[in-house]
Amino acid sequence: VFVVGTGTSYNSSLYADRLSLQLKLKHVRSVVSSEMEHFENLLDQETLVILLSQSGETADTIAAARIAQEKKAKLWALVNFPMSSLARMCGGVLPICCGPELAVAATKSYTAQLALITKLLYGSAGLAEEGNRMLLDARSALYDLMSNAARDHVMKLAKDLRGERDIFLLGRGLQNVTAREAALKLKEVAGMRAEAFYTGEMKHGPLALVGEGTRVMFFYSPQDQKHAENAASELAARGARIYSFGVNPLSTSIWHVRTDDIGKGLPMIQVVPVQVLSYEIAKMRNMDPDKPRNLAKSITVR
Ligand code: G6P
Repeated sequence: VFVVGTGTSYNSSLYADRLSLQLKLKHVRSVVSSEMEHFENLLDQETLVILLSQSGETADTIAAARIAQEKKAKLWALVNFPMSSLARMCGGVLPICCGPELAVAATKSYTAQLALITKLLYGSAGLAEEGNRMLLDARSALYDLMSNAARDHVMKLAKDLRGERDIFLLGRGLQNVTAREAALKLKEVAGMRAEAFYTGEMKHGPLALVGEGTRVMFFYSPQDQKHAENAASELAARGARIYSFGVNPLSTSIWHVRTDDIGKGLPMIQVVPVQVLSYEIAKMRNMDPDKPRNLAKSITVR
């Protein structure tokens, strides 16, 4: 099974890839739409290609679908618009039903894509009930994260970060997907140079850029707490300012955003405070959070 997308939809495909490993589903692999031709040799009539796209009109993803079609692979579209060009090319359509998304940067469609992927993969692993329970937990956690108190907390963080140009975002496993999507939101909406890495890769290069006052965000599950703790201490010792997103704070964090422990579905909720943060920073910088510079809602030319 190949799960294909671009931008935020690519990050959703990465969630499918990492979650499938956790659920012992061995044959799910994520691909960036524009790289699909490099996977051509692995495609045949036994392959299922799931194309992720909010709009269903993204040229790179439609081109990836054509490549898969030529190889006679089975095609499913996971889209917000069931009548889109992409959906019409595919044998199966999985609608995410999250309503029109008007802002250029994908937000609610990301959460909805992740929710549907969760349902699909837990169902495939014979764990449908467990998956459904987790989705309900995610729903109540999201209400908490959107509460006035939670938004005020993020607003204060936005004030702290409004003048910053660069920021690193770290996570491992499923939480690396969140680091990537959070970095994309900070780039697109808040105009920050936000770079995501695997937590363990930080010391293999990016560390050269860390010094007094470098901002670093950590995303972690309770299982990864110790790993994050060690990496954060190393960075804090070099003067980095640590922002933590997890169930419990890191001992070196100067700011913590608490998320409930909902298990493997943590990426469904952990990115939301950063979506809000990006929006608040954009407003503080007099940028239009709905229409980032140089970007379009869907890129329909290659
Ligand atoms: C554009 C948008 C991104 C979006 C990407 C994929 O680049 O600016 O926000 O994630 O397209 O869009 P899609 O509709 O295919 O999910």
